[in-house]
Amino acid sequence: MLRVPVHKLQPGMILARPVPLPDDPRRFLLQRDREIPLDVVPRLKQLGIMDVWVRHRELEFLEYLVDPELGERQREVYSHVRRNFEQMIRNSSVELDVVHFEESIGSLFEFLKSGSTGDVLLQKLDAFDNYLISHSANVCYLALLVGMKLDRYLIEERRFKSAKDAKDLHILGLGCLLHDIGKMHVPPAILNKPGKLDDVEMAEMRRHTNHGYEMVRSAIPAAAASIVLNHHQRWDGSGYPGRIDHHTGTEGAPPAGRKIPVFARIATIADVYDAATSRRCYSEAKHPVRALAEMRNWSRGQFDPDVEAAFYRTVPPFPVGQVVTLSNGVDAVVVDFNPDYAVRPKVQSIRTARGQRIANPSLEEIDLSFCDDIEIVSVDGEDVRPYVAALEELEFAALA
Ligand SMILES: [Fe+2]
Ligand SMILES: [Fe+2]
Repeated sequence: MLRVPVHKLQPGMILARPVPLPDDPRRFLLQRDREIPLDVVPRLKQLGIMDVWVRHRELEFLEYLVDPELGERQREVYSHVRRNFEQMIRNSSVELDVVHFEESIGSLFEFLKSGSTGDVLLQKLDAFDNYLISHSANVCYLALLVGMKLDRYLIEERRFKSAKDAKDLHILGLGCLLHDIGKMHVPPAILNKPGKLDDVEMAEMRRHTNHGYEMVRSAIPAAAASIVLNHHQRWDGSGYPGRIDHHTGTEGAPPAGRKIPVFARIATIADVYDAATSRRCYSEAKHPVRALAEMRNWSRGQFDPDVEAAFYRTVPPFPVGQVVTLSNGVDAVVVDFNPDYAVRPKVQSIRTARGQRIANPSLEEIDLSFCDDIEIVSVDGEDVRPYVAALEELEFAALA
C-alpha cells in the first residue's frame, strides 16, 4: 500500500486504511478494502485530509509498518477531547474531563512505548473538521514521541523529581492536549481570519496562553498547566507571555533558555510543526520536508537544541509510503526512515522515467544514503530541492 494525495485518486483504487468519520472518529466515512468513490474527494479535502492509504499489490509489506492500533489510540484521544471541549463551548460551567484525558493519553503512551511502530512511521491524525481538537491531539502525540527520546535529558532538567517521575510523560501529554484551550476565549472572527492579524487582534490572540492557564490551573498538575502558559515562549527569549511581576502586576520580559520548563520546550516544537503541516484558514498544509526546512531556517535559536535534535530524529521529512520523484525521473515510494540521514531514505522504484509501471519494486530498492548521484527532487509535483538542500546543509553542519 502507499499514500496517495486525494487529488490524485483514480477510479478503481482500493482503500487500505479506513477514513474515520469526523464527528465520531471511532466510526468510518470510508471502509477499507472498498473502491474509493471519487465524488468523496471534495469532502476529504474539506476535512483537511491530504492523502489516503491505497492498496498496491507489490507494496503490501508497508502494511506491517502501519499499525492500525495507533490510529485507534489517537482517535480515542480525539474523541474524548472533542466531546469535552464541545460541551465546554456550549456551557461554560462544564468542567475539564481530566480523568478521560488521562486514560486515553495513558493508552496512547503505553502503545508508543511498546514500540511496535518503531521509528519509521509518523502518522498524524487527519485534520477532521475541527482544527483546535485535531491540533491538540497531534501536539500531544508528537510531544510524547519526542519526549520518549529525551529520557536522560528529562532526568537532568527535572532534577527536583525522582528519575522515574522526571521522565513520566503523562503530564507532558496532558499539558499538550490542553495547550491551546484558551483559544475558546478568542473571538471566532480572529481565530478564523484568513488574512494577517492586526496588532489589536494579535494581542487578543496572544492572550490564549493566559486564558488557558486560568482555565486549567486548579484542575491539572502544575507541570501540565505550565505547558499551557509557556508554550509560546522561545529559547532565545523572543516568545510570550512575559513574566508577571507579582508586586506590581506588570508584565516583564519573557523567560529564555532553561528558565522555560522543559515540557513547554517540547510542546513548542511539536506545536510549530503541527501548525505548519495542517491546513489552516489562511494557509494550505505544507509537506513535512518543507515544514522542517522552514522551521530550521526561520526559527534558528528559538528551540532548545537538545529538544530540536530529538525532534529531527523523530519526524521524517519523507514519511514512509510517500511517493517521490527522483532526479533520474523515476517515481519511487519511501520505505524507511534513516534518522542519521533523513533526506536520503530508502526507496523502492514504482514507475520508470517513461511512466511505465515497475512490476517488482522490491527488486528496485535504493538506499539514497549510499547514492550521491540520485536525490529526491519533487513530492506530489512540488519541487522540494531547496528544502532538501537546506536540511542537508544543516545536517552536515551539525556533524562538523
Ligand atoms: Fe498556542
Ligand atoms: Fe497550538
